[in-house]
Amino acid sequence: MTKVLLLDGNMKKGSLTELALENVLGYIHTEIDDAEVGFISLADIEVPLLTPGADVKEHDTMRRFHGIVEATDAFVIAFPEYNGSIPGSLKNLLDHISPLKFRNKPVCFIATAGSRYGGHGAIGHIRDIFNHMYARVLPCHTVVHKEDLIEKEVFNTILMGRFETMASYVAGETRLLGGDNT
Ligand SMILES: Cc1cc2nc3c(=O)[nH]c(=O)nc-3n(C[C@H](O)[C@H](O)[C@H](O)COP(=O)(O)O)c2cc1C
Repeated sequence: MTKVLLLDGNMKKGSLTELALENVLGYIHTEIDDAEVGFISLADIEVPLLTPGADVKEHDTMRRFHGIVEATDAFVIAFPEYNGSIPGSLKNLLDHISPLKFRNKPVCFIATAGSRYGGHGAIGHIRDIFNHMYARVLPCHTVVHKEDLIEKEVFNTILMGRFETMASYVAGETRLLGGDNT
């Protein structure tokens, strides 16, 4: 069983990030026969503000989230770009988790942006963060703009091709690592 986690770093429900991850999901199942795909959105979980020294081990959400990250073989993380970077809420979540939990695990990113030229700052920052944690940052990020939507739930073919490529990178990398995290 290959466990893939789709992590939505948007606090808003019904966001572009959610839609992007829904579209990636199908490709993950096509590319990885034995995929078990989980979905977690920041909109659905309550993450305490990180306070160094405070013990959050008793915090139900964080305990469950730590367990899920540990058991996951690969991650696709989507988030909106805020002021040229990732949302503070997503950084706060990542700061709660030991960098060792991401070590050597494949991860790729989708940024959504309000501006046609946005998204790339956030992608650069999150790649730095995951490189710092010695994750396997895959060379296949995607930026989604609102104009990429041709209908409410359909992205253009170029974007869909990029989602498919992301899924095939995740498949290739997890195969390479032989990651069975059952
Ligand atoms: C606080 C804040 C800062 C933002 N900064 C940027 C930015 O730097 N670049 C950009 O392209 N869009 C920026 N945006 C727009 C969001 O990225 C955009 O609304 C979002 O990706 C669209 O998806 P959503 O409405 O489904 O969340 C910002 C939005 C907010 C609320």
